[in-house]
Amino acid sequence: MELHDIISIRDLSKSKINHILKVSEDMEKHGARKNKYLDGKILATLFFEPSTRTRLSFETAMGRMGGSSIGFSESGTTSTSKGESLKDTIRTVESYADAIVIRHPQEGSARLAANVASVPVINAGDGSNQHPTQTLLDLYTIKRETGALKKNIALIGDLKYGRTAHSLAYALSMFGAKMTFISPKGLEMPEEVITDLAKFNTKIEETNDLEGSIPGLDVLYVTRIQKERFPDPEEYEKVKGAYKITLKTLESAKKNSIILHPLPRVDEIAPEVDATKHARYFKQVHYGLPVRMALLGLVMGALD
Ligand code: CP
Repeated sequence: MELHDIISIRDLSKSKINHILKVSEDMEKHGARKNKYLDGKILATLFFEPSTRTRLSFETAMGRMGGSSIGFSESGTTSTSKGESLKDTIRTVESYADAIVIRHPQEGSARLAANVASVPVINAGDGSNQHPTQTLLDLYTIKRETGALKKNIALIGDLKYGRTAHSLAYALSMFGAKMTFISPKGLEMPEEVITDLAKFNTKIEETNDLEGSIPGLDVLYVTRIQKERFPDPEEYEKVKGAYKITLKTLESAKKNSIILHPLPRVDEIAPEVDATKHARYFKQVHYGLPVRMALLGLVMGALD
């Protein structure tokens, strides 16, 4: 399969996504065993914003496939702090690496990097815009844990600034999921995302009522209200802690329903929920590894 850059989930067809999920399944079968698909290859991870899972899972995936990683997680230690442009940084890094993973606060930055670079570029999150590799691992998790993608799925929390929610809503529409968008007032899914989904005839419900929605759901996809994205801190204070999944919230949940979260969480899922059979967010973290192994192998032409 031809796959060079991964910038937006909108760039991927349904058949490409299905293929990526299939290759991820093959990678999962490898488990922790090392392979040599990317022997001698170098991955650059350029993180201009904080990350735990995305950066470490890409670096682990690279190591598992016989390659190695270079990069930074603190842009203040790089020549960006001397005023170097993103374009010049990318032109430099492409001389050292076979592929680039970038996280940057500015929307469109990953696309800009891909336009400049001759090596594949993977978007690890550009501002509030997109986080396509998170979406692919979310799809993989839903499929592995429920058996299908055509489910009743709620996206809960900060749907305005949440890039994982934007990417996932689009992808789930392609697969015929029924979606409920549950957010506090002011953090609703942006109108342009909803308009975009209309072309799939997706069944969408928008509500502020978490408790009332729970009984019909197969998947609760919970997101953090992201303090760092609010232009006005007072606006954050108004909505923080608006939704919390607790044992009580789950009393009316379907027996087989699952809870996902891209993580990190703050207080939107109570710690006691972790021990319930609904909690799958750490399994979701685990699935990030085979999915990112598949993506690295595909963009560097080691897998097809
Ligand atoms: N889900 C996610 O992107 O996590 P990190 O911010 O820790 O990479």
